[in-house]
Amino acid sequence: MSGVEVAGLVLGCLPLLIQGIESYNDGLDPLKSFMRWEKELPALIRKLRNQHVHYAQTIRILLEPITTEFQLADMLSGSGQLWKDRDMEVKLQGRLQDSYHAYQSTISDIERITKKIASKLDLERATELSRNDLEALIAANPKKNDRFEFRKRVKFGMTKKSIKALLEELDDCNKELERFTEKSEKVETVRKAVKPSFANRLQRIQKYATGLHETLSGCFSCACKSDHTTNLRLDQRGTLFASGKNIGQPPKTCFNVSFSSVSDNSTHLWNWQAAEIVVQEDEDDYSNLQPGPRPGRAKSVSFGKQLPPPYSTEDPAIPRTPLLEEVKDLCASIQQLYKSSDCIGFLFDTRSKLRGAYPMKTTCLEPTAGFVTLEELLNRPPIVNGRPAKLSKKQRYSLALTLASSTLQLNATPWFPSGQWGAKDIIFYRTSAGHHLLNVDHPYVAPKQVLISKALTQGQNPKPLGFQNKNTILLALAVALLELYFGVSAEKHRELKHGEPFTSSPWGLCAMVYDWADEEQENMSAAFSTAVSHCLRCFSDPSASLSDADFLQAAVEYIVLPLQDELDQFLGKNGP
Ligand SMILES: *[C@@H]1O[C@H](CO)[C@@H](O)[C@H](O)[C@H]1NC(C)=O
Ligand SMILES: *[C@@H]1O[C@H](CO)[C@@H](O)[C@H](O)[C@H]1NC(C)=O
Ligand SMILES: *[C@@H]1O[C@H](CO)[C@@H](O)[C@H](O)[C@H]1NC(C)=O
Ligand SMILES: [Zn+2]
Repeated sequence: MSGVEVAGLVLGCLPLLIQGIESYNDGLDPLKSFMRWEKELPALIRKLRNQHVHYAQTIRILLEPITTEFQLADMLSGSGQLWKDRDMEVKLQGRLQDSYHAYQSTISDIERITKKIASKLDLERATELSRNDLEALIAANPKKNDRFEFRKRVKFGMTKKSIKALLEELDDCNKELERFTEKSEKVETVRKAVKPSFANRLQRIQKYATGLHETLSGCFSCACKSDHTTNLRLDQRGTLFASGKNIGQPPKTCFNVSFSSVSDNSTHLWNWQAAEIVVQEDEDDYSNLQPGPRPGRAKSVSFGKQLPPPYSTEDPAIPRTPLLEEVKDLCASIQQLYKSSDCIGFLFDTRSKLRGAYPMKTTCLEPTAGFVTLEELLNRPPIVNGRPAKLSKKQRYSLALTLASSTLQLNATPWFPSGQWGAKDIIFYRTSAGHHLLNVDHPYVAPKQVLISKALTQGQNPKPLGFQNKNTILLALAVALLELYFGVSAEKHRELKHGEPFTSSPWGLCAMVYDWADEEQENMSAAFSTAVSHCLRCFSDPSASLSDADFLQAAVEYIVLPLQDELDQFLGKNGP
């Protein structure tokens, strides 16, 4: 049983015990009361009541920073599955840090004391619950109109001396608990000050990604523009989530894309082109992300900002910015360098203009065999080198992190089909010859908004999404994480499990995901379990929104960071 769950049981049980002893006191024969308790029982009850109040206050202070108001009220009202929530335990651990173990042992002392008092009260117990006496007591004695009702006279078989000793011990424990809380409160404030704002970094990426999408759409000004698509390569961007001494200097921000030309007739002069687009960052955006005092302009050299390649004087082969022309006809720019270089480079400048292109040395094989979607890869892996190209565990862990990170980077940008993306939208390019036949390390997302805008211009409504939920994107992520963890698509899982075909209705999907996560909760690794349950909880929380910085920050902490840690462990990278 987790420390949080035990804390909840104690909190739920103390009022019951207090009322039980009161009821015993009320029914006590005066002579017996005098002989046995020497009139001290009411005072002892008052003391126990004070201990309960003290305890409840401390627990409230402990939980406040890790719960929403609604969750806190639910927990303190005594009901609520939240006490059993594994996530809550993880959060509390994060809040208490070094004091966590001390907290655990204090809570189990308090539990022991509470159980001892309970053992001397002949209250009813739910016999089917034998895991914990306190739990059995709570279950068998529900409150009615704020009072517990006892069916028979309550007996209390403890000596005055024992209860006095227990109350003293309880008082010590409560004071201890309060000390941890105060200590962690201080730690919390310190930590808040140095904690990197993942949310700011992600919002900056979102801003660039949105601008870039718009610019690229405008740059295709050719007659054949409807034949061109642009796919974005997904990247973990691990440095976004670095903290502490790992922060270093922020790397240049870039986006890797692939342009393709598809048409029934092959009059096009180019078919596929990989490109790297370097963002010329705003100086202000940049320095805001640095911890410590903001560097002055004059100091910006020592502050260590490396200019992105097109500016760099180190490589004379790359033209200097003034020479990079604004791209007006992207199709023509691609044509110019097509086949002369595997990958071409562009600069996305501060005024959202695309400049370039210049040849790059990066190798990026043109896919000669189309692409495979993640869904296909899970369901029917293509045969590569005579064997099915099944994803390895390492690849699945790594992809999970890439998708989790990308969901947060690209949420609310036109690159990510808002909400209902799925394994079908994630693609991997294939080449028919060469070393990497299937490039699993480089997933791309193929945005589908073209279809929607086409439907709009034809006066039709785009397909209704079914949900009006802001966080559908997190439901989709939960599905993808489950699929990757178990190596089976949602569709296949459904078929195997329930023998019925998958209904793609959003509600069917929703119900299926909750079931799946529930059934497999125990089988998932800690990180996946934390990440999936965070996604699902946010999905069902109407007040949650990824456009809110605090919420985005929490999403990083409960989804991305655990997956990143676990992948690092898996790869044998130790420590931060
Ligand atoms: C873009 O591609 C380059 C070269 O493959 C790689 O070093 C870089 O990390 C990629 N960045 C992103 C954001 O995809
Ligand atoms: C190919 O398409 C272009 C316009 O997209 C058209 O002008 C041309 O006639 C087509 N060629 C063939 C062989 O269909
Ligand atoms: C998941 O765990 C349950 C028991 O907790 C077990 O019965 C089931 O077979 C497991 N499923 C997988 C896929 O390992
Ligand atoms: Zn064109």
